[in-house]
Amino acid sequence: MSSAGDLQEIERQAVAAIAAAATPDDIEAARVAHTGRKSPLAEALAGIGSLPPEQRGEVGKAGNTARKAIESALEERTTAIQAQALASRLDEERVDITLPGDRRDVGALHPIMQVRREIEDIFLGMGYAIADGPEVETDHHNFTALNTPEGHPARSMSDTLYIEGGHKTALRPQTSPVQVRAMEAQEPPIYLIAPGTVYRRDDVDATHSPMFHQLEGLAIDEGLGMADLIGTLQHFITEFFGESLESRIQPHFFPFTEPSIEVHVRWTDKRGRATWLELLGAGVVDPNVIEGAGYDSERWTGFAFGLGLDRIAMVRHGVPDLRLMYESDLRFLGQFS
Ligand code: PHE
Repeated sequence: MSSAGDLQEIERQAVAAIAAAATPDDIEAARVAHTGRKSPLAEALAGIGSLPPEQRGEVGKAGNTARKAIESALEERTTAIQAQALASRLDEERVDITLPGDRRDVGALHPIMQVRREIEDIFLGMGYAIADGPEVETDHHNFTALNTPEGHPARSMSDTLYIEGGHKTALRPQTSPVQVRAMEAQEPPIYLIAPGTVYRRDDVDATHSPMFHQLEGLAIDEGLGMADLIGTLQHFITEFFGESLESRIQPHFFPFTEPSIEVHVRWTDKRGRATWLELLGAGVVDPNVIEGAGYDSERWTGFAFGLGLDRIAMVRHGVPDLRLMYESDLRFLGQFS
């Protein structure tokens, strides 16, 4: 049988045990041990009914006080333990935002491709379309249809790389065959540019590469001539290089244009030296080329041009050696990203 004093002792021990709980598991164990069905408190409370009636009031009161004290001790300790657990979790999982992150390398367009895109944009703005053609070309598209029949001296001038020993297919030495393919495939008017890779056995000195990039242009319409060509090129030069650039036109020879010209620009290199730089070849499309495509050369006339993208990229960035452009050395290429 319990007395009020027993209940005070039960309360004291339970409250002390609850205060000693340090983790959520401890507090759960204390809750079961001190308020569960087999706890001393429960047993004492259950025994009250069998006490003599005059004792029940006092013991019942003490039992109630003990139960309330134990419950509030549990609640208080549970709250404290949860707060502590949260605080230590926040502390453990803290992110140090001053640490360097995982750096990722970001890719960028090659400087030659950057220049190509820029030039494409200028001609797209003038209503030109972008055309494409194969890099392994037939003799017909490489030469014959470009007014360069077999035995023509221009064939040997071009240092062509032939395929499989024969002379019927070759790596295209210029983007001009795309002119022919476009005229064969569609009716005039035509306004196109054709950027791409070309190949020449230009291994005479180590600063040349057997592969480089050109951008071809072709315009075929009624009444087009040299004035339209020069106006178009002047617009391109101003857009690309800026207003102040001086340019000059020289007569030249290409088998598929007549007359033919070369355009030079006055360029100040990185060391401050002013030089004339050959920018492109161009001309009025030879009537033989137009007739060869099946057009009436009395009605349809036009102009063509071809520029070297590698050269333009080198000039723009003051790169002294073409080979740097092809070495894929990220220390070099990273400067243009
Ligand atoms: N295909 C010529 C070259 O490679 C350039 C050119 C293109 C000239 C179009 C005239 C017309 O040098």
